[in-house]
Amino acid sequence: MGAATVTVIDNRTGKKVDLPIQNGAIRATDLGQLGLVSYDPALLNTAVCKSKITYIDGDRGILRYRGYPIEELAEKSSFLETAYLIVKGELPTTSHFRMWQQNIKHHTLIHENLKQFIQGFRYDAHPMGILIGTVGALSTFYPEAKNVMDLESRRVQTRRLIGKIPTIAAFAYRHSRGLPYVYPDNELAYTGNFLSMMFKMTELKYRPDPVLEHALEVLFILHADHEQNCSTTTMRVIGSALSDPYVAVAGAAAALGGPRHGSANEEVIHMLKEIGSVDHVPGLIKQVKGGERRLMGFGHRVYKNYDPRAKIIRRMAHQVFEVTGKNPLIDIALELERIALQDEYFVSRKLYPNVDFYSGIIYEAMNLPVAMFPVLFAIARTAGWMAQWAELVTDEEQKIARPKQIYVGHDERAYVPLDQRRDGGALETEVYGPL
Ligand code: ACO
Repeated sequence: MGAATVTVIDNRTGKKVDLPIQNGAIRATDLGQLGLVSYDPALLNTAVCKSKITYIDGDRGILRYRGYPIEELAEKSSFLETAYLIVKGELPTTSHFRMWQQNIKHHTLIHENLKQFIQGFRYDAHPMGILIGTVGALSTFYPEAKNVMDLESRRVQTRRLIGKIPTIAAFAYRHSRGLPYVYPDNELAYTGNFLSMMFKMTELKYRPDPVLEHALEVLFILHADHEQNCSTTTMRVIGSALSDPYVAVAGAAAALGGPRHGSANEEVIHMLKEIGSVDHVPGLIKQVKGGERRLMGFGHRVYKNYDPRAKIIRRMAHQVFEVTGKNPLIDIALELERIALQDEYFVSRKLYPNVDFYSGIIYEAMNLPVAMFPVLFAIARTAGWMAQWAELVTDEEQKIARPKQIYVGHDERAYVPLDQRRDGGALETEVYGPL
């Protein structure tokens, strides 16, 4: 075996440098020896950190948190236990887990002023917008959170955020429905309490269906982290400025809310409803193959195999339907999957169902409205964001994120006074046009 280096020769100058390879990577800054930068829009082939949290092998369809396979966690763990694992790095002992649960429950209430803040949103405000705004506002309630280098402060903010985010999420939903807010019930499990805050009406105590509570636990486990995706990268970039974690989570949630990220499951539901019946599936496949549209919930930047999370959700759907009644969209989804997985177009491009293909069908059967899908995602992902943020601020190699650009604009030019400008002005083809 040769040296763990790669030799780069700049053919313009003949200059040759050996760049060390470590962990399958070269350091982009080493290219500076040749006066070069690496150009990588959307960071397609750039590792921005070393992380011990989540491992993904997209070709083999493997996902692990802290070394534990997602299948095993989904089957045996609870969301709060998995959150502990992700945040702290190890599974808890019984006593540590009891303390962790108590600590999270201690933070489920929100300040009454925050309730009034939510009240100020328009009656039809999207719950994701309310969540983003309200989590950002938390920063003003806990100014000590700016001490991001203080371990005890990080611990408290992590527990607070994981504790409060379901309350804010449920209040956002109740606000959009004009329903009174339901305060947390700490006798219930994390997900049971969330269902109570969402759906409790006049009954004195809400008793969540154990199958639905379990399904939500599993869905939260599956969404708890996914290494350096768009929202986590946002969390890390904001965190690198040493901003407090509340504003960083608000930013991460804003990224998650985009249709290319955390709300594709909404698109899946629209698509399945539009297809309407199993007979129309071949027609849709034809449109997709003709390049007219994409099959939503299919394909993934990292997974070039069946997304392991989609497999778990598909299996669980039937348990949920035994309680809720079958969501008829499942038959259309299964037929779509069956045809697509045999079709050369999808096979050759390695397009498989991703996590969003089946999750929306379950959420819908559970009466969770489509607008809440990204909000549910954000509740679960808060554990991952906080773990990634803590890893970032304690990583001595990290600095404020500040990428380079390749400037392709004008050279220096002289300012022409307004009354002397005849030609020019912004062209329609430029980013904003003339007006
Ligand atoms: N339907 C049909 N064709 C597809 C699909 C799809 N869902 N996804 C990719 N392709 C095709 C592309 O047209 C392209 O074909 P070509 O080589 O003939 O041009 C090829 O497969 C590669 O596609 P890319 O766009 O280069 O793949 P990329 O990795 O950039 O995109 C993405 C991944 C955005 C997820 C894409 O597969 C997609 O749009 N899927 C549908 C939306 C979706 O389900 N998003 C949720 C992702 S999971 C998550 O964020 C939680």
